[in-house]
Amino acid sequence: MRDLRAALAGTKCWDQHTQALFEEHGEALEDCALQNREELLGLCEFIEAQGIRSYLEIGVWTGRTIEALNRVFAFDKVAACDHGWAAQRGLPMHVPAEVDWLQADSESPEFLSWRKELGHIDLVLIDANHSYRAVKRDFELNRRFPHRFLAFHDITGFHPATRGVARLWSELEGAKVEIVRPHREIGVEHSTMGIGIWSAGQG
Ligand SMILES: C[S@@+](CC[C@H](N)C(=O)[O-])C[C@H]1O[C@@H](n2cnc3c(N)ncnc32)[C@H](O)[C@@H]1O
Repeated sequence: MRDLRAALAGTKCWDQHTQALFEEHGEALEDCALQNREELLGLCEFIEAQGIRSYLEIGVWTGRTIEALNRVFAFDKVAACDHGWAAQRGLPMHVPAEVDWLQADSESPEFLSWRKELGHIDLVLIDANHSYRAVKRDFELNRRFPHRFLAFHDITGFHPATRGVARLWSELEGAKVEIVRPHREIGVEHSTMGIGIWSAGQG
């Protein structure tokens, strides 16, 4: 297997600086991948092992995660949707030009018709509105379209605003893979996020 850690080395993830901004503003107001590097690495290992060739990210912030994943895997099909909080806060966007991009709410009729047009997607990462109602709706809607895996960010519910994701994740039946690793870049030995990858097969 190639050195995926080295491939991610140039991608800034949620580190102590991001954490300080989050604690000051209640939002991670920084242009970086809002990911625990160790878990992003775990996601890359999963993508490599499963031969994922198409990827959709719902909720991209400034696009640093999709930029990194597409650089490492050069997907055959890559798509993203976001309603644009990062740009509204004056941050630059880095969604690569080859991404099929929709600036809209994932609950909008535009999303529905766009998702239909995308067709089969190997891996969908749901990382938009983290309330239970919204994440459940994103899940239910996206499971209707052809896919192999539906993934969720923040399955640990560590931050109170992400508890809806943890609740939905605990309720899901099917095959579930958890990528939950210590968030070392902020100096703790536990996860503050967690990625869960679901598929409809046997658990
Ligand atoms: C936690 S950030 C995403 C982080 C990103 N996946 C990453 O790895 O860096 C959440 C994003 O979801 C977007 N968002 C929230 N609710 C949304 C919705 N209903 N439809 C579309 N985007 C939404 C916000 O604009 C924000 O950019």
